[in-house]
Amino acid sequence: MRSSILHLLRQHSGDYLSGEEIARQLAVSRTAVWKHMQELKQEGYAIDAHSRRGYRLRQVPDLLLPAEIRSAARTRRLGREIHYFTHIDSTNNEAKKLAFAGAAEGTLVVSEAQNSGRGRLSRGWFSPEQLGIWLSVVLRPPFSPQDAPKCTLLAAVAITRAIGSVCQVTCGIKWPNDILYEGRKLVGILTEMSAEMDAINHIIIGMGINVNMRSSDFPPDLRPIATSLAEITGQPVSRLKLLTAVLMELEELYQAAVTCGFTEVLNEWRKYSVTLGQTVDITGINRQYSGLAVDIDEDGALLVETATGIQKVLAGDVSL
Ligand code: BTN
Repeated sequence: MRSSILHLLRQHSGDYLSGEEIARQLAVSRTAVWKHMQELKQEGYAIDAHSRRGYRLRQVPDLLLPAEIRSAARTRRLGREIHYFTHIDSTNNEAKKLAFAGAAEGTLVVSEAQNSGRGRLSRGWFSPEQLGIWLSVVLRPPFSPQDAPKCTLLAAVAITRAIGSVCQVTCGIKWPNDILYEGRKLVGILTEMSAEMDAINHIIIGMGINVNMRSSDFPPDLRPIATSLAEITGQPVSRLKLLTAVLMELEELYQAAVTCGFTEVLNEWRKYSVTLGQTVDITGINRQYSGLAVDIDEDGALLVETATGIQKVLAGDVSL
């Protein structure tokens, strides 16, 4: 109902619409309309109320509210079911709980801040309130578990595309899924999976995008290695626009992968890669070695040419 009210107010962009007219169009009582207006105001929408003229939407809050995401994202599945939080430990933890409880494919968990944001290799993820996009998506792909790493590459390509179209910023992808700008980290992706031997139950794709923080907002140890879109472009970036662009790119690439495979994703990943052609240091579970990153293979593994031949890297830390 609140989405429908917002839709009507938006249609009258900036003009008043009477409570009576809203009640008539939505077939509810004027008291119900009034109650929903109070709730919307509590969420941060600036709504002017005039005794004779009715209601007018003056300003939408800078929050990633479900009604805003639903109305902006032209997606069929991704982000239709949304779980929104102002604070949470980690959106990946919440998405995992929802997935095990049967959440539908495309379920989105988004929070304005995370208290215990998680990164790869048991690291933390700095997730301050309203300055970035901290989200997780539940996927239930028909792929085999071996294909799961390619979903991470797919997410990296989707975000890189979205940042390009919304901010006109060209970023690079460091294998497997760090998105960098001039060597500094802009986006991190944490993919987690629950699977049987031959089928995936669910994949959680968690994304952290540094959007509007200034350098001084980062803790001192992150300042030399992290950046944000506002720092790069010199102006604030609409988190809502970027989030909806990410969802749309992700859905398009995911649908293409489900129907035609990952060739398009792998080729586009190669185009954005800042790893290929570089000498890299690999820290694996039991060993450390260096070599030339020559390509990724059809599994999304990094192929590294070393003195003893080509090594196929499926997991681990890669430094340039
Ligand atoms: C990394 O580069 O180490 C991955 C960072 C992933 C961070 C995101 S923020 C949203 C989601 N929830 C988490 O706890 N982590 C991911």
